[in-house]
Parts: sequence; C-alpha cells; structure tokens
Amino acid sequence: MSVAHYYETMEYGPAPEADGEARAWLKRHDALFGHFIGGKFAAPEAAKQLTTIEPATGKPLARIAQGSAADVEAAVSAARAAQPLWVKLGGHGRARHLYALARMLQRHARLFAVLEAIDNGKPIRETRDLDVPLAARHFLYHAGWAQLQDREFADQVPIGVIAQIIPWNFPLLMLAWKIAPALAAGNTVVLKPAEFTSLTALLFAELAAEAGLPPGVLNVVTGDGATGALLVEHPGVDKIAFTGSTEVGRRIRQSTAGSGKSLTLELGGKSPFIVFDDADIDGAVEGVVDAIWFNQGQVCCAGSRLLLQEGIADTFRRRLIRRMETLRVGMPLDKAIDMGAVVAPVQVERIKALVETGVREGAEKYQAPVEMPAEGCFYPPTLLWNVHPSSTVAIEEIFGPVLVAMTFRTPDEAVMLANNTRYGLAASVWSETIGLALDIAPKLLAGVVWVNATNLFDASVGFGGYRESGFGREGGREGMYEYLKPKAWSGRKPRAKALPPAAASTAGAGFNLPPLDRTAKLFVGGKQVRPDGNYSRAVLTPKGRHLGEAGEGNRKDIRNAVAAARAAEPWARATAHNRAQILYYLAENLSSRRDEFAQRIADMTGAAGAKARGEVDASIERLFSYGAWADKFEGTVHAPPLRGVALAMHEPIGVVGVACPDEAPLLGFVSLIAPLIAMGNRVVAVPSERHPLAATDFYQVLETSDVPAGVVNIVTGGREGLVKVLAEHDDVDALWVFGSEQASASAERLSTGNLKRTLVDHGLMLDWYDKSACEGPILLRHAVQVKNIWIPYGD
Ligand code: NAI
Repeated sequence: MSVAHYYETMEYGPAPEADGEARAWLKRHDALFGHFIGGKFAAPEAAKQLTTIEPATGKPLARIAQGSAADVEAAVSAARAAQPLWVKLGGHGRARHLYALARMLQRHARLFAVLEAIDNGKPIRETRDLDVPLAARHFLYHAGWAQLQDREFADQVPIGVIAQIIPWNFPLLMLAWKIAPALAAGNTVVLKPAEFTSLTALLFAELAAEAGLPPGVLNVVTGDGATGALLVEHPGVDKIAFTGSTEVGRRIRQSTAGSGKSLTLELGGKSPFIVFDDADIDGAVEGVVDAIWFNQGQVCCAGSRLLLQEGIADTFRRRLIRRMETLRVGMPLDKAIDMGAVVAPVQVERIKALVETGVREGAEKYQAPVEMPAEGCFYPPTLLWNVHPSSTVAIEEIFGPVLVAMTFRTPDEAVMLANNTRYGLAASVWSETIGLALDIAPKLLAGVVWVNATNLFDASVGFGGYRESGFGREGGREGMYEYLKPKAWSGRKPRAKALPPAAASTAGAGFNLPPLDRTAKLFVGGKQVRPDGNYSRAVLTPKGRHLGEAGEGNRKDIRNAVAAARAAEPWARATAHNRAQILYYLAENLSSRRDEFAQRIADMTGAAGAKARGEVDASIERLFSYGAWADKFEGTVHAPPLRGVALAMHEPIGVVGVACPDEAPLLGFVSLIAPLIAMGNRVVAVPSERHPLAATDFYQVLETSDVPAGVVNIVTGGREGLVKVLAEHDDVDALWVFGSEQASASAERLSTGNLKRTLVDHGLMLDWYDKSACEGPILLRHAVQVKNIWIPYGD
C-alpha cells in the first residue's frame, strides 16, 4: 500500500497498545486471585471461584474468589483492627499515605490503563486519558483533605469501618471515588469490586501495600451480589457506600433499615441532553458523542435522552448521523477506536432487547454502519429517533450505546420533558445564550448540570443524584461529610421508655366548672382544619390531668398536607432575604407570647416555670439563628482544572416530613422545621406525640408571621402511624424522624419507593439546648442537596 493510498482513503491502521506487562502480572499470579485481606492475598479456595472474562474476545482472563461469610468476617475484622491505628496516624500521616497512593497510580499508570481496558473492554484511550489520571487526582485531592482535616472538619469524627460496593463500568475510578475520601477521613475499608471487573482493584491493593499502606486499612473481597449482601449485612460495618443499579440500592436500603449503619447510594440515571435552537450544533453533536458513546454508554450519567428544539431537529439529525458514520468500534487496546466492547454477554442481550422494544413502540432505529470485531461483546452506536416520552426506552436506563431522541418547542417544555423521569443524576444544556442556559440549569432536577459540555468530572466537584438516582455526594467538601459524623452526636444515649401519665386523682371536695373546650385542630395549607377521621386524642399532664385534645391525624390528613406543601413550591424560589425576614418575624411573634407558651410547656411536661421559659427563649434564639443562616448557608464556586467554573448550589430538597421528639416539645419542633424552611423546603410536621399542644399553639405564630400557606403543615397524632404514611408517600422527598427507634427503622425501611433522603435518630436522644449538636450546618447540610453546575468558558 502506498502513502498516497492512505492520503486518499484516510483509513486507520491498527494501533495496538502493548499488553505484555499486564499479561505478565496475571501470569505472576497464575491468573488466580484470592481476596486481599490484612495486607496480603489470601489463598483462594478451589470450591469458591469465579471466572472473569475478557469482553473483547470472550476468553477467560482469570479466576477470582467468591467471597463467603468467613471471608467477609476476616476482612471486616482486619479493617476494624486497623481503624484506631489509622486514626491515630493523624491527618498529616494519612495525607502522606494518600499522596503515596496517587504517586503509585501515576508510576504504574500504563499498567492500570491496559489491565482496565482488557478486563472491562473499554478503549485504552479512555482508561489512559481519563480513568487513571482522574483516579490519581482523587487521591491527591483527598490527601489535601486529610492534611486539613483537623482544621476544616474539627467538629467531625470518622465513622469507622466502611463497606464499599462498586460496579463494573469504571472499576478503578469508582475505587478511587470510594476509598480516597473514606481513608482520608480516618476510616478503614472493605471494598467489593464488581464480579466482572475485579482485577484493577486487586492490582491496586497489591501495589498500595507495596507503597506502604498499612495492613487492614484497605481490604478487597471479590465475589458477586451474594458476597455484596453478606458485606452489607455484617454487623461490624458502620457504613455502606454503594454504586450500581437502583434495584440493588433499594434492597440495601431495606436490609440496613434500623441498623444504625449510614448509607450513600449512587444509582442509575436517564440524563437529558437538551439542545436549544441557538446552540453551536457541531459542538453539541460532538457533545452527544461524549455523552452516549463514551464507555459504550455504560455510564450512570450518560446523556441518553436527546431533547432537541424542533426547529433544528432535522439538521441536528443529519449532522449526528454523519458523525456516527465516522465512529470506530474495535479492540479496546487499539488506540484509534472510539468504542470498545460492552462488559458482558448478558449486557449485550439486555441492550438488544431494549432496542427491539423501542422499535416495537414506534421509534425509528439508525445504527452506524461500523465494522465490528466478529467475536466478543460488541454493539454498534445506535440512535432511536421519534421516541415517545412514555416509551420504555425513554424511561428505562439502557446502559449501552443507545441514544433516544425527542423534540420540544419551548424552554418550559424542555424542562418538563427533562424532569419527566424518576432519576436525577445529570443533565446537559446546550445554548449560546448564557441567560437561557443559566435559567434552565436550576430548574433541572439533577445533581450535576453541564452547560455546553458533558461528562466533566473532578475530585473537587461533588457528584451524586437527586430522586431515585440515590443520595450522598462523592467528591468535594460535601463528599468528605459522607465519611464523617458529628462529634457532638457521639455520646447520645438511648431514650428511656416513657412512663404513662399518672392516673388522674379523683379525690377532692365538690364539683368544678368544666374548662372551655379547646381541641387543637390540624394545620394544613395555612388553615386550621378538623382531622379527616374526626377523632381526637387526650393530652394529659404528667400527673394525668386532662389538658386538652389534639386531632388524630390519619392517612388522608397527611395526603392533604403533602399536597399543600407541594403547592407551596414558590417558597423554594423565594429569596433567601425573604425567608430570613420571615424567620425573624416568627421569632418576634413567638417572643410576644413567651409567657403563654412557657405556661403551656410547664403544664404539658411538668417543667418548672424557669425551665419552661428557658425552652421558649431557646426556641426564639433558634429561629433567629436560622434567620441568620437563611442567607448565609450558601454554595461555593469550584475551580476544577479546566477553563471554567463549577457552581455548587445549595438547593432545597422539596417536601420534607418531620417527626418531632417528646423532649423539649417546642424547641425540638422549632429546631427541626426552622433549618428546613430556611433553605426553601416545605414541611409536613408531626409534633411530639405526647406534648403536641406547643406545636398547635404555634399555628397562630405561623399565621401572623407571613409564612405562606402550605410551607409548614402540622398533623398531630400517633408518631409511628403517621411516619409510616409519610415514608410510603412518593411525593415526600425526605423524612426526618426524631423521637423513636421504631419509627426511625420504619422510616428507613418504607422510604424506598422514591428513595427518600432520611435523617433519623435511631432512638438516641439529643440535647436540644446544645447548639453544637442541634443548630446550624449540622442540620442545614441535611436540608439541602448540592447541585453542581459546570460552566466552561472560552473557545
Ligand atoms: P448491580 O447493581 O447488580 O451491581 C453493582 C454491584 O453491586 C456489583 O459489585 C454487584 O456484585 C453488587 N451487588 C449485586 N447485588 C447485590 C446485593 N444484593 N447486595 C450487595 N451488593 C450487590 O448492577 P449490574 O447487575 O452489574 O448491572 C445491572 C444494571 O444496573 C445495568 O444494566 C445498569 O442499568 C445498572 N448499573 C448502574 C450503574 C451506575 O453506575 N449507576 C453501574 C452498574 C450498573
């Protein structure tokens, strides 16, 4: 072949990356791996092994161990034993280790990149230029947090032993996202990689030990979902961090409910890629390539739903198809390919089945006429055009190189279509009009929004979902908090079982006048309403005297309250200044009725006058405090390594159910609702079951303080029953439960329908007067979700 021929055809020849070192490493281990526990490989047992396949050839690559209960036990024990020593090392000591891990990754970058490409099937270009450098950046960045921990997280302590379960789409990068913050914060780790792709985790553990990471700090147990489940259920695990399918995430939430283990879930997505008619079309077409054909579309935040403004749809389609024709699918180690192999045959089958369903449901299919290797797990870049928003392929995560396209006319319609999904991981907005793009970004229900870009990641910028894409963030300062817990919550004691009120004394001379009946109603949508069931419950003093009646709320009352809270959505967009003013006004109006509230508290709880007045004063101060925070608990501007910024915005979560404790019936109630409304949430509160009248008296304070109708709704009644209804209600976005161990457990167990964010006390008591435990960022952090809006600039 002549040079002239190549000039004419512009054909690529093969450009394979050498795989000698990676194969030699496998050979050194006889392609057989035990778990990595306590700083060394355990001997694999013959009866408990899995074969891992090379997706591009379909050939066996290695055998790995299938973790048993005993293996999980050994790994958790090793992590437990190492944890106090790891903490003792201090921030600087851990920073040195994390730095060493970053350098280790850089030193062995090519080995990791090649092994990852072989094991996963993704192009070497991506592992070399993205997975490995980003993994190293994660360790370097988190070495920094370890170094600054004493100063920046002084009020926090590590959680303990962390179980981390990761998927197969970014094996090494997910490892880094998980273990770097966990180790930086002073925790130790048991990691379970995905059964399809465990090799880079094993290589990492081996080289980390060589780089001096102390034994037991990082343990790797391999195996499938059964091993994952054993790890999740192990009583010695303090927290689980999971990335994977929404279905498994739900199962983990259920199986850990009430255990006291903390949990973060990074789940699936069906992210919109919105192109307005004033976008740079060629730029956006290139964006689509990155959004959906990067990593064969096996990306949780893949821009898999293309939303095009009608006027440019045909032009866009033409240019996109032209670009698709130039994509190259091939062997992962070929440096000149765009797409490699899909991870496993089962995944190819799943993609095929979903595409067939899409076509059956009316989509037009276009597949790029690419040459594909004859063997192995390959699937061509695919476009499904004219997809109906209710079609299966527009709803379900395909997790493959398949783009579904639909059109919209107006920006409002674009937002509606974009948010028409149960997920909320990421979104991409394309427009040359900055005002339009920045108007749309906050309206999208997604944890990450890229403006005129897609799939940008950095360790300093948090990543994580809204809605059923899970909860918790990875990266950034917010990601560190996922691996720490408040020092002030450490010494909490279990709540003693409340004694029933004493029997009322009937002794006495003569008859008394009956008091004027005063039955507290519910407060829904700004109005006092009778409970739907028309039942009420007696409120007694500690001595058993009848103090009044409170409405017995039921399912219907909660439904009405949630609907009212949902309708009060403009509160989320009220200015922080406006919310602050209203919180101060609440304080002012409570202050003017101080004695009356103090008397009520004294009557209900039997507290002495001074103590009751003290509770009202503390409540007034707390409202003031959140008035102050309302316009000060702000987001940040990140400066990731690109020309541009990422705005970390604190957004309200939405409608939040709150169950309040019996201790400090007014202060507890105020301490929970104030941070939520300060941040723009709407609340359905269930006041103290035993002493509800301070909260019901509070209606009048709400009514006179300009709080818009529906922002705070109050439903009195039995805590357990009402929490259950709130947990099962899919229009409630988060649930805070204080006051009962059982209610905490059922809140966690029953809230999986829409994967609510939960904050529960597990029956452990807080001192509501202690500001370090109950006031400020400690709760505000749970009252917001961070949305990161990436805004690159320049050419
Ligand atoms: P998966 O959720 O089953 O697996 C992820 C990890 O969880 C693996 O390490 C697996 O061994 C482990 N696991 C499975 N069952 C478990 C259990 N009961 N308890 C604890 N750990 C368990 O995901 P899978 O089957 O690999 O992929 C299925 C679908 O999930 C994909 O088609 C895709 O739609 C989605 N997915 C989403 C990912 C994301 O990044 N959000 C990543 C991988 C898959």
